[in-house]
Amino acid sequence: MVGSTDILLLPLLITMQESANVTIDDKIAVTPNLKIYFKILVSSNLSLRNSIIKYTPLLKLAILISGRGSNMEAILSAISLGKIKNVMPSIVISDRPEAAGLKIASEKFSVSTNTLPGYGLKGSEYDQKLLQVLEDYGVNNSTGCICLAGFMRVLSCEVVSKYLMRIMNIHPALLPSFPGLRAQKQALDYGVKVSGCTVHFVDEGIDTGPILLQRAVPVFDSDTEHLLAQRILKVEHQLYPEALGLFSEGNIRIEGRKVSIKKKR
Ligand code: GRF
Repeated sequence: MVGSTDILLLPLLITMQESANVTIDDKIAVTPNLKIYFKILVSSNLSLRNSIIKYTPLLKLAILISGRGSNMEAILSAISLGKIKNVMPSIVISDRPEAAGLKIASEKFSVSTNTLPGYGLKGSEYDQKLLQVLEDYGVNNSTGCICLAGFMRVLSCEVVSKYLMRIMNIHPALLPSFPGLRAQKQALDYGVKVSGCTVHFVDEGIDTGPILLQRAVPVFDSDTEHLLAQRILKVEHQLYPEALGLFSEGNIRIEGRKVSIKKKR
């Protein structure tokens, strides 16, 4: 296994390996592990650059749900199909024991689940319990990530500030239009011709954090709330895994409210 000191030397070795037939010189001060690793790669004709991906620390993912969990399912499918790299689903947490998504997580994807009912608990009491579960499953604020997928509670500033820019949410409207509940109905009532969905980082407001990705969906005169919700949901299932992939591969830059994509996937 390549250690953390070795990681610092990898760019140098990639350059060496890629500049035609270079052999590692024993006089070069590299760590013994890395020397052996390099020799194996050269003798087996493997690329050091491509093999590095194996040593990228895994992002430990918690998904928080309250209901059917179709966005959760889209994310877990994308991970299991290898469409999202570097992510290990650690735990699915629901505040509702009856949430259908719990069964999907455990039976279809063999992901651990945890029910954390919120009845009668104040926000901060609930979030203390939540922080404990996240810690128990190794979802910390340096290698962890939290996806809210239809989670019907507002997280306290304690959780938000601990996991700053590590919590994402999907909202079924083009924010900042129509935040909060029943976004599709709000859009229809307003009479917009285009709506869509937004993946954003979670800050202390409701649906107000920096926007990572958005995608538009047409609104038709004949739409009902249900029809529009279904059309948006289909797009949500593409957008959320895409956003998580960009995050897990380190392809985004956050400057204040602005999130830019470093390179297209
Ligand atoms: C989705 O429409 C999502 O945008 C919103 O809540 C709904 C959750 O649906 N935040 P599901 O549980 O992922 O199917």
